[in-house]
Amino acid sequence: MSPANIKVLIVDDVSETRENVRKLLQFEADVEVVGAARTGREAIDLAAELRPDVVLMDINMPDMDGISATEAILQKSPFIQIIILSVQSDPNYMRRAMLAGARDFLTKPPMGDDLISAIRRAGKMAQQEKSKSVQPYPGAGIATSMSAGMGGIPVTRGKVIVVYSPKGGTGCTTIAVNLALTLHNDDTRTVLVDGNLQFGDVAVFLNEQGKNTILDLTTRADELDPEIVESVMIRHGASGLHVLASPTRPEQAEGVSGDQFSKLADYLRQLYAYVVIDTPSLLTDVTLAAIDASDVIVLVATQDIPSIKNARLFLDLSITLGINRERIVFAMNRYDKRIAITPERVGENLRQAVDAVIPLDERIVIPSVNRGVPFVIDNKAQPAARGIFTLAESIRNRLSVSQADELPVKR
Ligand SMILES: Nc1ncnc2c1ncn2[C@@H]1O[C@H](COP(=O)(O)OP(=O)(O)OP(=O)(O)O)[C@@H](O)[C@H]1O
Ligand SMILES: [Mg+2]
Repeated sequence: MSPANIKVLIVDDVSETRENVRKLLQFEADVEVVGAARTGREAIDLAAELRPDVVLMDINMPDMDGISATEAILQKSPFIQIIILSVQSDPNYMRRAMLAGARDFLTKPPMGDDLISAIRRAGKMAQQEKSKSVQPYPGAGIATSMSAGMGGIPVTRGKVIVVYSPKGGTGCTTIAVNLALTLHNDDTRTVLVDGNLQFGDVAVFLNEQGKNTILDLTTRADELDPEIVESVMIRHGASGLHVLASPTRPEQAEGVSGDQFSKLADYLRQLYAYVVIDTPSLLTDVTLAAIDASDVIVLVATQDIPSIKNARLFLDLSITLGINRERIVFAMNRYDKRIAITPERVGENLRQAVDAVIPLDERIVIPSVNRGVPFVIDNKAQPAARGIFTLAESIRNRLSVSQADELPVKR
């Protein structure tokens, strides 16, 4: 089959109707029926799996009407074009269908020629939408609204947030995972990227696994499109957060260059409001590329001298790297009030105020990691989660200051 074929999914609860439509289409060389669904829910699943260009959608179905199914499909895959088929030619139905985002409306049973020309029109639209290299998800709205660009054309540019610590084991992954979940919602869709390419454990923290990894995107860094990205992401069941997992084996880390990683980060910011990247301590080309791409660096330290010493080394290095201190949000993790090294003292000592403090709470944090249920999901009221919420708030404030192009915050 040539790639120019228009892929069609038929949705109807009556098998005879499905067969009739299939027969009408079988001799069209440019139309390929890729599947048929019997219910609204099945349609949503098959649309996500088969990625058709066009869906022929019945309205009246037992579980979910075709209009709700249309909305759900378009939310996930905005490029899909939906043609509603209905026995009622009621203008009210048509209006609702159009509002739901349907492309066309035909009465049942459709005439062969009408159906085929509607499919061709819709197929062309779908392919145009897909070929656009920049196709922001509806959820990248924050970026759109914040940066309405030249001539009022919205410029979508999500924010890249890198979680980094110059010392291992201080809690970067714990923070990255809980932070991404906090930032993610319908209006600010977020992706969590595992930038720890050798021993990444982001997916484990979320108790998720998938067959695709970051390698599926970095190897195509020059030819990314929203569909490829969407197909590679793991969807976190409880939240819908998108997760880009690290390679399955440590030796595969070498397959990713800093340049590829930069291109990927830049591409993802066109699709998501926030791109949260977990990183290892070692400053590899990839970690440096992540830092370079970032709008905010969450620098993580703990209350021990080696960690603070390394934070100082990193802050010194940041000058060489040309990182403005305003880009750094400083987080103290595993804070224990019994230890005399207070956040205030660390802040003064390093001339970088601590913006958020996440307390040591082994009773909550360690089981949350082992169960794969981050604590911001089921322990929102606990101090550890509140520390993450403060961190998210500091980041939002920092971004809105830099966005408004005001003078840097004095510290
Ligand atoms: N605030 C906290 N209270 C108690 N335990 C914590 C806290 N934060 C992290 N931990 C625990 O510390 C351990 C290390 O955390 P994590 O894996 O997030 O660190 P990391 O910086 O990503 O480590 P690595 O350098 O290996 O990538 C985990 O077992 C985690 O459960
Ligand atoms: Mg880690």
